[in-house]
Amino acid sequence: MRIPDIAPGAKVLALGHYQPANIVTNDDLAKTMDTNDEWIQSRVGVKERRVAPDGESVEDMATIAGGKALAASGLSPEDVDLVIVATCTLETQIPNAAAVVGHRLGIKAPGAFDVNAACAGFCYALATASAAVRGGSARHVLVVGSEKLSSWVDWTDRSTAVIFADGAGAAVVGPSDVPGIGPVVWGSSGDKSEAIAIKDRDNYLYQEGQTVFRWATTALHPVALEACARAGVDPSELSAFVPHQANLRIIEAIARKLGAEQAVIARDIVHAGNTSAASIPLALSRMLERGEVRSGGLALTLGFGAGLTYAGQVIEIP
Ligand SMILES: CC(C)(COP(=O)(O)OP(=O)(O)OC[C@H]1O[C@@H](n2cnc3c(N)ncnc32)[C@H](O)[C@@H]1OP(=O)(O)O)[C@@H](O)C(=O)NCCC(=O)NCCS
Repeated sequence: MRIPDIAPGAKVLALGHYQPANIVTNDDLAKTMDTNDEWIQSRVGVKERRVAPDGESVEDMATIAGGKALAASGLSPEDVDLVIVATCTLETQIPNAAAVVGHRLGIKAPGAFDVNAACAGFCYALATASAAVRGGSARHVLVVGSEKLSSWVDWTDRSTAVIFADGAGAAVVGPSDVPGIGPVVWGSSGDKSEAIAIKDRDNYLYQEGQTVFRWATTALHPVALEACARAGVDPSELSAFVPHQANLRIIEAIARKLGAEQAVIARDIVHAGNTSAASIPLALSRMLERGEVRSGGLALTLGFGAGLTYAGQVIEIP
């Protein structure tokens, strides 16, 4: 047996994102359910969210975001040999989204699989991509988080409809002489697996809001700190903290405990809602586009959600 030449490190080469055009404001929701802008902003932090129309699928959004990341990387489709899509809102079980997205982007016969770790999915997929590049199983990997939560939310249920939304974010991962993706810290609390669930195809997304809120605000900052420690990075060295955009109060509670006062905190939820596995690459790509973070700085990602699953790693911003 022979092991191929392995890369000393892997890094994110480029990012891309896509959001559906249709904006739904809190006032729009208040027309169809018993809620209001003040409650949603103070309890969840969302002002507006994007909702994809009937004909626009998880795969459609993933293809657009993935195509943008690929274009920004300067690579051609032939350079990519693995596609991973993190999602938990596909309409069908098969085919997987990764094979469809790879084909649509003209990537020839890539390895292709989906990851379902709910809102932590992108961080799981990124860690897997990094390991594949470092281990010689892939040269360049397209990693996409894409979600259409609007298809799985009951639009008359104010406890979920005000939170979730649609969108996609993508990253191209490739080899690097200096590591640009730190070791992942990942885990799960399967004892709380019923706290967020879609029971079957006849049911909508259900969550025990307060159970999730308590868990997220007490169990996750040690994961964030450990991801920094494993990467040999002090929180004071971070340029950005990009947690899953679940709820602004959760984001700010974890950020306070992380103690990275100098870091820009992603607050993309305000305009994008909670887009599950898409939220981290979507937020970081938008922050980069707006010039809020600089290329070369260090960002801490932290995904968490149904399962309950979590994962985080330090990455160099492309
Ligand atoms: C869902 C969540 C926003 C609810 O907030 P909360 O403070 O726990 O709210 P509660 O359910 O206790 O309800 C508080 C009050 O607001 C009301 N309320 C609930 N949803 C409302 C809404 N959308 N609009 C207006 N009022 C609402 C309730 O009826 C209740 O009223 P009452 O006090 O008169 O009985 C919060 O629990 C949460 O964010 N949890 C985490 C969920 C999450 O992040 N999920 C994604 C994980 S990836």
